[in-house]
Amino acid sequence: MEFLDKLVLPQSSEHLELLHYISILLMTILIPYLSLIFGGTILSLNYFRKSYLKSNSTFLQFAKDVLQIVSVNNLTAVALGILPLFTLILIYSQIFHKTGTHYTTDLFLAFLFITVGLLFIYTFRITFSLDLIFKNVEEDSVPEISKQDFVKIKSSSAKILPRYGYFGIIFLIAGIWILMGVLTSAANFEYWQPGSFISMLFSLKTIVYLLLFISFSFALTGSFVLFYVFFWDRENFQLEGNYREFFIKINSRLVYYSSLFIPVLLLFYIYLIPRIYLSGNVFTFSFLVLILVLVALSLNHYILNKFKINYNPLVFFFLILAVFSMIVQKEILIKNATESNALILSSEYNKILAELKGAGTEEAINAAEIYQVKCSACHQFDKKLVGPAHFDVLPKYDGKLNQLSSFILNPVKVDPAYPPMPNQGLKPKEAEAVAQYLLDEYQKVKK
Ligand code: HEC
Repeated sequence: MEFLDKLVLPQSSEHLELLHYISILLMTILIPYLSLIFGGTILSLNYFRKSYLKSNSTFLQFAKDVLQIVSVNNLTAVALGILPLFTLILIYSQIFHKTGTHYTTDLFLAFLFITVGLLFIYTFRITFSLDLIFKNVEEDSVPEISKQDFVKIKSSSAKILPRYGYFGIIFLIAGIWILMGVLTSAANFEYWQPGSFISMLFSLKTIVYLLLFISFSFALTGSFVLFYVFFWDRENFQLEGNYREFFIKINSRLVYYSSLFIPVLLLFYIYLIPRIYLSGNVFTFSFLVLILVLVALSLNHYILNKFKINYNPLVFFFLILAVFSMIVQKEILIKNATESNALILSSEYNKILAELKGAGTEEAINAAEIYQVKCSACHQFDKKLVGPAHFDVLPKYDGKLNQLSSFILNPVKVDPAYPPMPNQGLKPKEAEAVAQYLLDEYQKVKK
């Protein structure tokens, strides 16, 4: 991503901080979306397969419903997946500018994989409806010329169709794996130096973090699908009888089993983080994640065992809050790890800013100001006041900036005709600037 590096503009420390907030915002869109698409597609594929093995139409219905719910429509893939991920690449090229890391390139790779994965999954979604249409058409009602094709397509669609889904999942998981690898190692400064791509993917931290994502993904999918069907879009989904019970059971069981893993994985992950990066905030947010997941788990219990679906919005709400806390925790870790680089980048910015303003004139303005405030009460250039006229004494300081500034810094008794000059308490830099100012003024009249 060399070309991105060239696009990077020097940033002030405030801007760099802002980039971390924007990246939190982007991830609160991207991560839940990826979780739902990933979890939902696997769930759907699983029941699609089962429906053929057991020729069970309830399973097929379930597979279709889940896929429809998590994918919403083609636009969501762009708005919630592709765009946020692309913006994240731009932000990382700023934050990791000059670190010599490969995260921007890696993120771009993740972006490609995830985009291709989403393309396959959305194709799977479209062909799914076609498959159902084929199944429901009576063979007799097909015109004679198409009959052979019809039989052929009908028998092969069960084989071709899930292939899109499987390809989609393979690309998606590859992309997500890289993304999790970047998020994990970006938060660990010592990884930055030589670190190869492969060692990043297969480091224990990355694997644990990926497993955390997968557990969250299934938990979120289960609770979201229930939430969608029973609350969000309940007019369109009037589930009845057996299918309703089946629907609740499968999803709440999914929430139950996948969130059991989260606390264990999370504790293990924190254990793996180097101590120096564990600030108080990291602990606070990790603790928050634990509490939220445990509350969601216990509420889910009522749905699983007593079919009390009215607890579902709370379960979903707590789980999504837990995901948000995970994201904030991650960003704090990344911010802690990039702190020194942020200093380097912002000092560069300050340097450029100073050059733009013109370093020399800035001091001259200050000197004149200091003179007005601190000296003009007792001095004038051409008249004596409390002290002597400057033009009377400056000839002896001509070309002797150091001597003059040391007098101003620390006045000594000179002329018996005057009282001693009180120390004006200037800083060495200021004294020098004022001395330079006096000499400059003197040069002007000398000519
Ligand atoms: C409270 C009045 C007062 C203030 C304020 C004051 N001066 Fe003076 N200054 C004097 C007096 C009195 C002398 C004469 C001291 C002597 O000859 O011993 C003097 C002498 C000087 C001299 C001549 C030194 C020499 O070698 O003859 C310079 C130069 C000078 N002041 C610069 C400054 C500058 C620059 C400031 C402001 C940062 C300043 N003064 C503020 C009263 C003041």
